[in-house]
Amino acid sequence: MSGLHRLTYVSRSVRLLNMPDFNVLLEQIRPKNKQLDITGLLLYKDKTFLQVLEGKLENINAVFEAIEHDPRHFKIKLLEHLQPCEERFFPNWSMGFFSLDDSFSMPSKFVDFFSPEFTLVSNSQYHDELVKLLLYFQKNS
Ligand SMILES: Cc1cc2nc3c(=O)[nH]c(=O)nc-3n(C[C@H](O)[C@H](O)[C@H](O)COP(=O)(O)O)c2cc1C
Repeated sequence: MSGLHRLTYVSRSVRLLNMPDFNVLLEQIRPKNKQLDITGLLLYKDKTFLQVLEGKLENINAVFEAIEHDPRHFKIKLLEHLQPCEERFFPNWSMGFFSLDDSFSMPSKFVDFFSPEFTLVSNSQYHDELVKLLLYFQKNS
């Protein structure tokens, strides 16, 4: 048996993306996630992605294996590596998406996951700040 898990990472896009690029990407992502019962959130700001994947352990592993090897991004840093969870933050989104502009300020004052200076020492280091961010977007879901 395998319960519900969550995986969250940040990465850098190899190039600046615009709305048509996101549409191509999301058209590829959403049907596959639906098939695998994966839900989540994809954020993009200043060439940084932050993605949350929610679902069964083996399904997250399968999808993340493909994501990790995707040449469209690099410098993948795991914020949460397969965190067991009771319920999903985004049960209705096969992949919610927001492209954030400079007017977006992080709900947490302490950490900006999108900053190029953002560094990570351990997976669990920013757990509370990450949950604040997820709750912020859950309100819009
Ligand atoms: C930032 C980013 C996020 C992605 N997220 C997902 C995802 O949630 N689910 C998925 O199936 N593919 C995702 N992909 C695409 C995969 O990396 C990969 O291209 C795709 O799964 C391959 O599908 P195919 O083998 O059917 O061509 C993502 C790619 C990028 C660059």
